[in-house]
Amino acid sequence: MKVTIEKLDNFGKGITHFDNKVIFIPKTLPMDECEIEIVKEKKNYSEGKLIKIIKQSKDRIESKCPYFNECGGCALQNLDYDNTVKFKQNKIKELFLRNNIEVDNINFISNERKFNYRNKIELKIVNKKIGYFEELSHKLIEIDRCLIAKDKINEVINEVKKLNIVNGEITIRCNFNDEILLIINTENKININEIIMDRKIVGIILNNNIIYGEDYFVEKVNSLYFKVSYNSFFQINEWIFPTIFKEIQDNINKEDVVLDLYCGVGTISLHSAVNAKEVIGVEIVKNAVLNAIKNKEINGINNVEFLLQDLSKGFILDKSFNTIIVDPPRNGIDKKTMDYILCKLPNKVIYMSCDANTLVRDLKILCNYYDIIKCNLYDMFSYTYHVESLCVLKIRKS
Ligand SMILES: C[S@@+](CC[C@H](N)C(=O)[O-])C[C@H]1O[C@@H](n2cnc3c(N)ncnc32)[C@H](O)[C@@H]1O
Repeated sequence: MKVTIEKLDNFGKGITHFDNKVIFIPKTLPMDECEIEIVKEKKNYSEGKLIKIIKQSKDRIESKCPYFNECGGCALQNLDYDNTVKFKQNKIKELFLRNNIEVDNINFISNERKFNYRNKIELKIVNKKIGYFEELSHKLIEIDRCLIAKDKINEVINEVKKLNIVNGEITIRCNFNDEILLIINTENKININEIIMDRKIVGIILNNNIIYGEDYFVEKVNSLYFKVSYNSFFQINEWIFPTIFKEIQDNINKEDVVLDLYCGVGTISLHSAVNAKEVIGVEIVKNAVLNAIKNKEINGINNVEFLLQDLSKGFILDKSFNTIIVDPPRNGIDKKTMDYILCKLPNKVIYMSCDANTLVRDLKILCNYYDIIKCNLYDMFSYTYHVESLCVLKIRKS
């Protein structure tokens, strides 16, 4: 059928209406006139596939990525960078407005490194071919390189092909110093000899066992060093995250007693500890907590403690905090953690988020007690629909 795209949804998909039903079509832009095919019919909406552009939107550009049309990774490579920024700003503004979240000013911090910024990619291997799955499918899109991955990672993708893995998954992680960790899951026998030569590969982990080198590398952020195990979380864009951590640090004062929830290897805890009286970090992944304890030692910082705990099961620590920092995974602050924050009601809550929808869901609750005094958006994930946010909330005196 022929349609004209009206606007983009929050996931960067084009929206149109037909027979009073909304249709979502990936890789289309507002004012594209195009031919589409319906690929999924639901009661309230349909999903379409772009077949042909009849008349293109004035904003449409040729994607630099050869896999853009099939790959589910970057939704916005058919827009120029400034328009991707506008999309992200509007998306957050509209979400805040629709949910009655009041904020005076939303600042946007662009990514100086628009391509080749990701320090971690997760690839699938099917019948010896390596690549990403097409969006919402198990169809492999074979790739030689990924435009948003760091150059060093792209070098390694072609080396990895020599491992002769038939089926499996491989995660390639790269640190600030271009050192590489390979994390492989497969039932196939692999021969690592060929690929480790002079590639700065510091460790290979096969099915959770070290088969070469170490199971960690060291990251440097601002003036701090972090040991990061192969399965510990680390932010993915080294051209952006130092600025966010510095901003958090600048919002911490010497009288602050800080609780840093979802703390990973202690990045935010240690940045905060530089200014705070005391910090406690909480995290579910054992290796990440062990890394955090080591990182405290490496950086000679003594006013921090780390606890291993699944926050979704409920967190009970009978201690007063005047600041709680949260940096949860995409599903946002879990119910029991939110109950804990509301029970403690610290003066300041600092919320770092990688998911706009759960951020807004959680702010709606927190804003019953808090005012947002700062809201920064960071383009951590350029050319994707994702945006990283940092909100500083202050308790309302009344
Ligand atoms: C977005 S990361 C933030 C990590 C850290 N703040 C940083 O910037 O490096 C979220 C972290 O929450 C942890 N996490 C996820 N679910 C959790 C839970 N139920 N309880 C505690 N930590 C959890 C993850 O392991 C991950 O380290």
